[in-house]
Amino acid sequence: MKSLFTKSLLFLLALTAVSCFDDSRPNYQYMPDMYEPIPYEAYGEYDVFVNGQEAKLPAEGSVPRGWKPYEYENTQEGYQAAKEELTNPLPYTEENLATGRQLYTIYCAVCHGDEGDGQGILVQREKILGIPSYDDAGRDITEGSVYHVMYYGLNAMGSYASQTSINDRWLIDHYVMKLKNDLQEGEERAFDEVDPSEDAGNQTMENLVPAVNAEGDQVPEDQPVTRGSQENQNQGQQDQNEN
Ligand code: HEC
Repeated sequence: MKSLFTKSLLFLLALTAVSCFDDSRPNYQYMPDMYEPIPYEAYGEYDVFVNGQEAKLPAEGSVPRGWKPYEYENTQEGYQAAKEELTNPLPYTEENLATGRQLYTIYCAVCHGDEGDGQGILVQREKILGIPSYDDAGRDITEGSVYHVMYYGLNAMGSYASQTSINDRWLIDHYVMKLKNDLQEGEERAFDEVDPSEDAGNQTMENLVPAVNAEGDQVPEDQPVTRGSQENQNQGQQDQNEN
């Protein structure tokens, strides 16, 4: 009798312990400091914030580091203006062309074909139609228009702005213009002379990255800013001092 009493007592105790358990909430936490952070969590919901969320949108007009606004609008006028004025800031070197070719093969060749004649694998398999050849006289593509189209896309062609960097697009641009020239059987364009002591990649980023240092102050024009690690920037500084 006594043992039955103890057993049922134990059972009841166990039941009280379990009955308060709520599936939708965390179970008992013995050392909450281990689980609950003291600061606000980046994606947490808190009443103190506008919209109740900790993560804020960047202030209007913010420019991410290493990104430069593209000035031409996604309109017919913007397209025309880019076509006429915009030129490739990267030197036309063997190396840049080779990288451009790789990127072109990754992003564009499925539709436009390895030769840029509009006969990519998707066209051959009739998955997509209406891919123009780069030497299409009616289109008369230029460095500027190619960049513009990569940035915004054009009808059935999507934008490549999110998948490629500014630098990538200009590299691809060189290769597209080369393909166009080859299709037209034009004369090979001579490679630009680049001072081998300078790193072509970094050098080209100079005019693509907004001139802002870590404190957010504007850097004087004559003091180039290169993208990359602090080490890189220090290196640039040293080079300058040596000169
Ligand atoms: C999904 C297939 C597809 C891919 C991938 C693609 N394009 Fe296109 N592209 C098209 C189509 C379709 C058109 C014709 C758009 C139109 O005029 O309606 C076009 C047109 C063009 C034109 C001519 C635009 C003009 O000014 O008339 C250029 C230049 C071009 N693409 C470059 C590129 C480059 C560079 C890439 C790679 C970054 C690329 N395309 C990737 C489908 C594609």
